[in-house]
Amino acid sequence: MNEKEIIDIEQTCMANTYSKRPVVIVKGRGATLWDVNGQEYIDCMGAYGVCVVGHSHPRVVDAIQQQAASLIACHSSLYNDARSTFLKKIVDVTPKELNKAFLANSGTETVEAAIKLARKHTGKTEIIAFMGGYHGKTFGSLSATWNKRYRTPFEPLVPGFKHVPYGRPERVKAAVTDETAAILVEPIQGEGGIKVPPNGFLGELREICDAKGALLICDEVQTGLGRTGRFFASEHFNVVPDVMCLAKAVGGGVPIGVMVAKEEVMASLKLGDHSSTFGGNPLTCAAASAAVDVVVEERLHERAASLGTYFMAKLKELQEKYRLVREVRGMGLMIGMEFRFDVYNLILGALKQGVLVLDAGRNVLRFLPPLVISKDQLNRVIEVLDAVIGEEERARVRR
Ligand SMILES: Cc1ncc(COP(=O)(O)O)c(C=O)c1O
Repeated sequence: MNEKEIIDIEQTCMANTYSKRPVVIVKGRGATLWDVNGQEYIDCMGAYGVCVVGHSHPRVVDAIQQQAASLIACHSSLYNDARSTFLKKIVDVTPKELNKAFLANSGTETVEAAIKLARKHTGKTEIIAFMGGYHGKTFGSLSATWNKRYRTPFEPLVPGFKHVPYGRPERVKAAVTDETAAILVEPIQGEGGIKVPPNGFLGELREICDAKGALLICDEVQTGLGRTGRFFASEHFNVVPDVMCLAKAVGGGVPIGVMVAKEEVMASLKLGDHSSTFGGNPLTCAAASAAVDVVVEERLHERAASLGTYFMAKLKELQEKYRLVREVRGMGLMIGMEFRFDVYNLILGALKQGVLVLDAGRNVLRFLPPLVISKDQLNRVIEVLDAVIGEEERARVRR
């Protein structure tokens, strides 16, 4: 199929729920993507933060090929070697207190599972979530997600959710009651514009939960597995949650969701309380085992920390150069660049010059590149940004 045929079919046959960029991607390797015409792109979208180990990492490809040849499907009501291998790896890399996992297929499912677990464990129904927070779009997660554009058309949502300002522990204290089952928080807000909380914030949430007998749920769907320079972003703040939600990076590109929890907390989920037909699928687990191995053995979290420092410094030079840039912020290779206007034109401009970038809200360019991206590629991204921001500034002066 040629470019036009591919686009026509997607536009005709697919639900119109994504804002599409005018490009057909057919191949990826590391931090490089190719379109159907052979044009090359540097990938700073990383499939919305999925591709921590890079596209089609040879070890992930090999694991999938080998597993596919022996067993693809096996429900979690039967034991399986690939699942067992992955479970051991994931509980080994998460904080040692989090030693039980529920396996699902996406980020939003892990949040749904965490909400059910919090209700069952505490016997309470109230959940404190945060303004600017994003947790997915199924009903429970959507009730915790802040953006009203996503929520309002689907009301009534699940009752019992309260949103409080992010980074303001005194507002959390004021909102918590004896009915609070959990505080659900992203250690760094992603979709909300790459917001890093003040240093003691997560620690204060931990204390509030301990004082009130509520669970602390860290949604590390976007921050997890090396992205921010540590295995998990909550480690930057020396906080161990009761429950952690993981997805995106864990599968090496294959769909997966993992909710990990303390044993005594997970014990509240009894036979039949929760399930997923595909959760714990051997093919997925084999890919995820390879992805976790790659992050551990190639020390990709450390690479994220050092490349992130380098890239952030370069972005800050652009901030100095252009008044249009309001702020550069983030941790590791999870970085936001806030502008004084809508960034859509910048995204299209960068795309035309071979760089794929995300947004986070209207005014923020978001960078979630594979952690295997090279310094040369990051330098090229800076050159392209310099060109497109410069062009935008000149166009604004002319208007
Ligand atoms: C922090 C966070 N939680 C949950 C989700 C939902 O994940 P999924 O789209 O896999 O359902 C996302 C997706 O971007 C996310 O960033």
